[in-house]
Amino acid sequence: MKRAIFREHGDPAQVIEIIEEPDPQPGPKEVRVRNKVMTINPADLLSIEGKYGAEPIDLPATPGVGAYGIVDAVGTSVTRLAVGEAVLPVGGRFWADTVILHERMAPKAPKGVDPEQAALMRANPGTAYLMLTDIVALSHGDWVVQNASNSNVGRMVIRFAREMGLHTVNIVRRADVVDALKADGADVVLVDDGQVDLGQAIREGAASAPKLALDAVGGAATGALGAALADGGTIATYGLLSGEGPQLDARDVVFRDITLRGFWLFHWYRTATPDKMRDLHGFLERKLSEGVLQTDVDARYPLARIKDAVAHAGRGGRNGKILLTGDENA
Ligand SMILES: NC(=O)c1ccc[n+]([C@@H]2O[C@H](COP(=O)([O-])OP(=O)(O)OC[C@H]3O[C@@H](n4cnc5c(N)ncnc54)[C@H](OP(=O)(O)O)[C@@H]3O)[C@@H](O)[C@H]2O)c1
Repeated sequence: MKRAIFREHGDPAQVIEIIEEPDPQPGPKEVRVRNKVMTINPADLLSIEGKYGAEPIDLPATPGVGAYGIVDAVGTSVTRLAVGEAVLPVGGRFWADTVILHERMAPKAPKGVDPEQAALMRANPGTAYLMLTDIVALSHGDWVVQNASNSNVGRMVIRFAREMGLHTVNIVRRADVVDALKADGADVVLVDDGQVDLGQAIREGAASAPKLALDAVGGAATGALGAALADGGTIATYGLLSGEGPQLDARDVVFRDITLRGFWLFHWYRTATPDKMRDLHGFLERKLSEGVLQTDVDARYPLARIKDAVAHAGRGGRNGKILLTGDENA
């Protein structure tokens, strides 16, 4: 089997490599899964660079948190899964064509779904939905503002917000994505060319001041969101694409009661009740089958071309996600 690993932190295309290992055998409650699709997310690249900011990782390490695979061997005590069933592995270290999972960590994929869309259905759509529903109470007609709006998370925020009767102001850094975001349901799209006063542009774009801002960029971009929010509004920082921590004007914090908080899906999973998780997964499966989660794919690379794949994923200006593919015949 093939596995991607990095032995030290650094430029992903430099430090990632493929190693060959013997095919692993499942223990009694485990299944062996041949990954057919593996996702590449900004968090994977940041963790290779050593900039993710979560718990330190033991090296060497294998990235990857999203995958779709087929069970090809089951342990003697496995009851829920059979050879040939499609699963959406839970956990991590999925940039490998073969993984061993406890059967609990291998929920079945919804029937008849496209493997690529299934691999993408949990992390980003789940983050978008929870940020709209779990952070502040929003009512029909309320406005939400976000940056990095043409990211996969951002596109899902726009689509879910439209379904919930919310309005969105969306900040992007290139004009060629405006039409696609409007087609998703974006009310206002602002292109940040570095020349506009974003705080003012957001206030002018929204019919009423937003109560919630979703920030994936950090640095000064956070301050622009804070300046535009309604008094008492909340910014949820969930990514640091600029590489800088959030910067807020103290006057917005002190005199206008703007709150900065974080959102991390991993933490949500650590603390959510089984009922809440079931609700979330049920919602995402419904939205997948309705076509709401449909995500563009810019390119696919076999796992063996991991260096090209991560270099592509790390470049700006993509039109969709970069996916890794496992061996078709395995
Ligand atoms: N906290 C959580 O639980 C959680 C969960 C999932 C995702 N995330 C975060 O959500 C963010 C988006 O992830 P994704 O998978 O949806 O992304 P994605 O689809 O891979 O797209 C990346 C996006 O980031 C934009 N971008 C990159 N660098 C930027 C910068 N310096 N300033 C502004 N925009 C920048 C790109 O814009 P261009 O198209 O113009 O290049 C693109 O829209 C990431 O920060 C990720 O870590 C967080």
